[in-house]
Amino acid sequence: MNISIKEKILSQLINAKGEPVSGQKLADELNISRTMIWKHLKSIEEDGYVIEAIKKKGYVLQSIPDIVTPEQIIPNLNTKQLGRTIDYYTTCESTQIIAADKAREGAPHGTVVIAEEQTDGRGRLDRSWNSTANKGIWMSVIIRPAISPQFAAQFTLVSAVAITQAIQEVTNLTPEIKWPNDILINGKKVTGILTELQADMDIVHSIIIGIGVNVNQELSAFEESIQKTATSLKIENGEEIDRSLLAAKILYYLEKYGDLYVENGFKPIKILWESHNCTIGKRIRATTLRETLEGVALGITNDGVLEIKLDSGEIRGVYSADIHLLGKN
Ligand code: BTN
Repeated sequence: MNISIKEKILSQLINAKGEPVSGQKLADELNISRTMIWKHLKSIEEDGYVIEAIKKKGYVLQSIPDIVTPEQIIPNLNTKQLGRTIDYYTTCESTQIIAADKAREGAPHGTVVIAEEQTDGRGRLDRSWNSTANKGIWMSVIIRPAISPQFAAQFTLVSAVAITQAIQEVTNLTPEIKWPNDILINGKKVTGILTELQADMDIVHSIIIGIGVNVNQELSAFEESIQKTATSLKIENGEEIDRSLLAAKILYYLEKYGDLYVENGFKPIKILWESHNCTIGKRIRATTLRETLEGVALGITNDGVLEIKLDSGEIRGVYSADIHLLGKN
């Protein structure tokens, strides 16, 4: 990873946790003049950071802007590969499109594309995804697991488990997963995941995991048509959440559970998914491309397929569908 001098200075200020960092020490360590240090500090301030200069002591980071730049995410990151390359945009059409192009061009495993705002965010089933500026996590992660294409869909469930765990840790809220990978809090959708596959018949080239988390929106940020079904973490727990910390935690759990899946198969993921799910045992309506099925969700198979017991008693497996929870069976 190529870290710029500006990033190194910022990283030192962040790691000092409110203690002064000496300008001379920075200059010596980075082998540049005090004037250059001062110029980098000005540039950091232009990005929205507030830095106080204390005579004879050094520079103290007083406040950080609410942005999801690599400089903000990387100090919180505890991963080997995921998020070690981050491509950041203040605005873009869709991180998913950029990530797909990058994956085709050979971007390494773990590359992240993240934006403050998407003007054409994409959802599942060709829907659009509301991506308000500076309020959510809109990111796409390129992974290159050594698995065959038939198992790629299971990564959707791996991602749902990882994000649920990250939200739980950062907020103390208790999210639930609606099959396959919608994350709900108090029955309302807070996160959507869109996984796309680039593969040949027998080999996965990459999986692009598109993650949209509603973090700090007020209810009015959502279109009226979805205000009853969508929510944000802030609406649910009443406080602003540090988006870069949450993004780093998501990447941490995505790496952890992704590795667990590749090494030990779907079984441990299935157990975790089941422990967070709110679909099994409920009466549901499943709308697939071909038909609409109503019945009781029995569980997921070892391939992640949802099994539904229809009113006729017949048991059907669903690979991909839009699920509507109808209540208890
Ligand atoms: C869903 O419909 O539930 C999936 C929504 C996925 C949204 C994310 S935001 C980041 C990435 N870029 C996109 O355009 N979509 C995904």
